[in-house]
Amino acid sequence: MKERVRSTNRIRLVLGTLCCGLLTATVIRAQAVAKPIPVPPPPMGWSSWNSFSNTVDSQIVMAQARAMISSGMHKAGYQYVNIDEGWWLGTRDSEGNIVVDPNAWPALAPSERAGDMSNIVRFIHSLGLKAGIYTDAGRDGCSMFPDLGPKYLHTGSEDHYQQDFLQFAKWGFDYVKVDWCGGYKENLDPAVQYAEIARAIARAETITGHRLYFSLCEWGKNSPWTWAPDVGGSPADIWRTSGDIVAPIVAGHEHADRKASFAKMLSNFDQGIHPEAEHTGYYNDPDMMVLGMPGLTDEQNRLHMALWAISGAPLIVGADLTKLSPTVLADLTNPNVLAIDQDPAGLQAVKVSEPEPGLQVWSKALAEPGKRAVLLLNRTASEQSIEVKWADLGLTGTAPHLTDAWTGKELHAAAGSYSTMVPAGDGMLLLVSGMERPMALYKPTVGEDAQASRGAVLCQHPVRFIHVEARPPMARIQIVYENPDPGPRYADLQVNGEMQTGIAFPSTGKTGAGYIWIQAVLDSGASANELTFSTACKPGPVIQSIAVQ
Ligand code: GLA
Repeated sequence: MKERVRSTNRIRLVLGTLCCGLLTATVIRAQAVAKPIPVPPPPMGWSSWNSFSNTVDSQIVMAQARAMISSGMHKAGYQYVNIDEGWWLGTRDSEGNIVVDPNAWPALAPSERAGDMSNIVRFIHSLGLKAGIYTDAGRDGCSMFPDLGPKYLHTGSEDHYQQDFLQFAKWGFDYVKVDWCGGYKENLDPAVQYAEIARAIARAETITGHRLYFSLCEWGKNSPWTWAPDVGGSPADIWRTSGDIVAPIVAGHEHADRKASFAKMLSNFDQGIHPEAEHTGYYNDPDMMVLGMPGLTDEQNRLHMALWAISGAPLIVGADLTKLSPTVLADLTNPNVLAIDQDPAGLQAVKVSEPEPGLQVWSKALAEPGKRAVLLLNRTASEQSIEVKWADLGLTGTAPHLTDAWTGKELHAAAGSYSTMVPAGDGMLLLVSGMERPMALYKPTVGEDAQASRGAVLCQHPVRFIHVEARPPMARIQIVYENPDPGPRYADLQVNGEMQTGIAFPSTGKTGAGYIWIQAVLDSGASANELTFSTACKPGPVIQSIAVQ
């Protein structure tokens, strides 16, 4: 039953004329009596693929790990050193265990044995970094195609899921990327295979007590944003939404070099936008970055970083870290821009206006009330003026505080909007701090209210909110809930009877409620939207109320 909190809104309007968005938040928090629950940020690190392809070995990985430290990137937040395809040439022993080339992966200390991947993991960990590994969901992996090096068959984990993921965890890896070349070749169903993989990863984690971050790489062919947030009962941590940005230059039988493509980078950004699926610490992955690789200008590199930050994308660098220019390094480590990407609300940008084709305004709602990261993006071939209207960002009241996100320089915001000239093929990244428009609060429908407050098994008693008002272009929904478990509980969200996404509800601790944010596509024609949360007969979160902003 909808419960418009008119008194709250009245208070807010009075306070709103006096001060800023924080007061709005205070009022809302008092109403909800809940604390914000920060969600895991997108991963930050490096991957071997873009620069080294299938020639990767121990020497290369050690040099990159050292460069992550000496460049200051680790200090800025980068931590994963991910070994992509090419580490394994497809050999197994008689028991099916993976066998690696001892020359490529030698002993790194007297007590170590050559051909043991735990050597490189120990090295990476010794620098305070985390280690990532790679496999394929099918029998063959992507190394069935030659690249910078020759091709190799049987580099996939099919028929060995349990064995391989346990092995990765035992070696000490913290992250695993699972590609789809073999699965695609065999015409397998990705939702089925990746669910089996998710369960194998979960079992490996239980056996070893070691967390394996799950990077699902199906390139967006089968709309993974619709099923990856709930694959095998829990979400994949990140899921690829498109093909590779890097454009290999093919010479003879092998790809002779690597080049970044600006057009492909932009189209990967577009394909990665699925704000309804990106929330509570699980992210759309538009591919590892090409920033700093041959092919992009300084301006294009900076725009690339702004696009990945505003879409809350994983920041996995594909350039050779030993060769980064000071300009690229500054882009990669700018604290304001990293904070946009890593914001604890974990939401993705939404396109709020496109007054003319190619002139776009993107807005990412940040955790702090009234705060937005805004990108004015000019995709046309000439310099153009772009305007952002505060009302389009869901802000109200007087002019907000406005800064250039890259420099921190204060800008002049007029009462209704801000406009500026943006060069061709470039963007302006802004930080806006204003006052939120009023929220509409909803309680679960009568009857189920009592059930929800007892923390029922939700599959028998879905929690339903009716007459929920739309907020175009996308509703931002604050969910107040309790989860006393140490780990997340899960629920699926249906909007007007259609499955929208799986949602992870992190722990709120043993006492008290907390809130997370999601974004949902509601029917803007009606104020009759119905939102239903349900689980697969497991204890779910105790959902108390939602608020739409
Ligand atoms: C696919 C993936 C890339 C990379 C290569 C390795 O193309 O999308 O990210 O892992 O395979 O071959």
